[in-house]
Amino acid sequence: MSESSNLVALCDAADVEEDTPVQAMASGAVYAVFVKDGAYYVTQDLCTHGPGNLSEGFIEDNEVECPFHQGRFNFITGAPTAAPCTDALRIWTAHVVDGKVCIDPEESRT
Ligand code: FES
Repeated sequence: MSESSNLVALCDAADVEEDTPVQAMASGAVYAVFVKDGAYYVTQDLCTHGPGNLSEGFIEDNEVECPFHQGRFNFITGAPTAAPCTDALRIWTAHVVDGKVCIDPEESRT
């Protein structure tokens, strides 16, 4: 994990549970924060297919099911895994700093 001066806090790490992602807003953008096996993952909250919020989705293994049309994404890679979703989610590296899940908003990897 590299040092970055651009990290912004999204939420308390303790608030994120395996079956309960957290919606977080920072710098005018909305994110979904996931945890799996103790590791945190951050994606855009808005589904790439429509108005669904992935932070309100159903979690199964590494996937989140959009509550709107039941499309799915791998929240670790951002890849769509079930129709009607075809476009990948943007993802960010999650850093845990002082108990907060943080990202560098400029560091989108997809
Ligand atoms: S809005 Fe998410 S699957 Fe359609």
